[in-house]
Amino acid sequence: MRYLGNKTKLLSFLDGKMKRLEIAPGVAHDAFAGTAAVGRALKASGWSVHSSDLMTYSYVMQRAYVVASTVDQLERLAQVVPAVCRAATAPERLTAAAEYLSTGIAPNDGFFARNFGPAGGRMYFTDENARRIDAARTVLHDWHIESLVDDDTFYVLLAAIIEGADRVANTAGVYAAFIKQWQPNARRNFAVIPELPVHSTAHSVAHRADATEVAARLGEIDLLYVDPPYNSRQYAGYYHVPELIARGWFADDVALRGKTGLIDDGEQRSAWCSKRQAPDALRSLLAATGAAHVLVSYNTEGVIPDRELRGILADAAVDHLQKRFTKRYKRYRADSDHEGRRYKGDEVSELLYHARLR
Ligand SMILES: C[S@@+](CC[C@H](N)C(=O)[O-])C[C@H]1O[C@@H](n2cnc3c(N)ncnc32)[C@H](O)[C@@H]1O
Repeated sequence: MRYLGNKTKLLSFLDGKMKRLEIAPGVAHDAFAGTAAVGRALKASGWSVHSSDLMTYSYVMQRAYVVASTVDQLERLAQVVPAVCRAATAPERLTAAAEYLSTGIAPNDGFFARNFGPAGGRMYFTDENARRIDAARTVLHDWHIESLVDDDTFYVLLAAIIEGADRVANTAGVYAAFIKQWQPNARRNFAVIPELPVHSTAHSVAHRADATEVAARLGEIDLLYVDPPYNSRQYAGYYHVPELIARGWFADDVALRGKTGLIDDGEQRSAWCSKRQAPDALRSLLAATGAAHVLVSYNTEGVIPDRELRGILADAAVDHLQKRFTKRYKRYRADSDHEGRRYKGDEVSELLYHARLR
């Protein structure tokens, strides 16, 4: 998914630094999970992962990419969807269920289609795609409440609906605004393409909760990875459409506000976006965690200045030391709208801080 601060491209850098610091697999807390890209990579390297984020769509991705470990045979769904029944293996059945959600059901003029397509005055999706997303999410909801799919399959397919919707969203990458002419990606057909779960014997857990609250509950662990928002942009306002798809619109009280159809985000506004509150939020997180190592991804233009961030990390460190790693590489066009990056002419820098906490 297109996501501000997505660390997919930083994974090998992160892995290289962890090897250099001799941080061996154990229990990790990916505290600001977002797309769950980091938690998923840690899981694939043998870590047991606890991940957390305030947003429901992130919880869905954590469940799909970090917690789910096997693919179900979908026996109950096979009894009502012939294409699933005809598929032989569990992965083929998952694909058949996803294809059914993409094109096997009639488009639906439900709440989502009425509000996020041109019919509702919001050009986030073409009319056809808005109705297909509505239908896929509604049918998946029914499958889940009728226990035709287990929890893991539900989250794997829901993550695929969120990612499929993002591929055809008529935006510049975030949902703070829609574009007034249809973009080429928005004209493509919405499709549900599930990712097979990463298998692991290590147990992982997803949390839709504040990073510090989860850190306090976890007790002693090996690694805390901190990748917070670093400027005033609240994710709740930038990703309300995936948030609505994740939550569903099946209760009667969903209210939309304004031109873009914002939803209630009372408990999802983050202190890390505030210049005044962010330094204390970092101090509290470091005081709450029982992690041996902390790694922090941040940006020199973030609301916590570099010197202050280093000072906070050094104060929390067992040896009063902190280290900063920088990855430089040539800037290319697609980088211009990426977060978490420092630009100097044609060069881009990714920053990673480390401290040993016990
Ligand atoms: C830079 S993004 C993380 C990106 C993620 N590492 C990835 O690769 O996709 C920051 C995330 O922090 C989350 N967030 C903000 N405040 C939070 C808090 N207090 N506790 C947990 N998550 C929070 C946001 O919802 C957002 O998903």
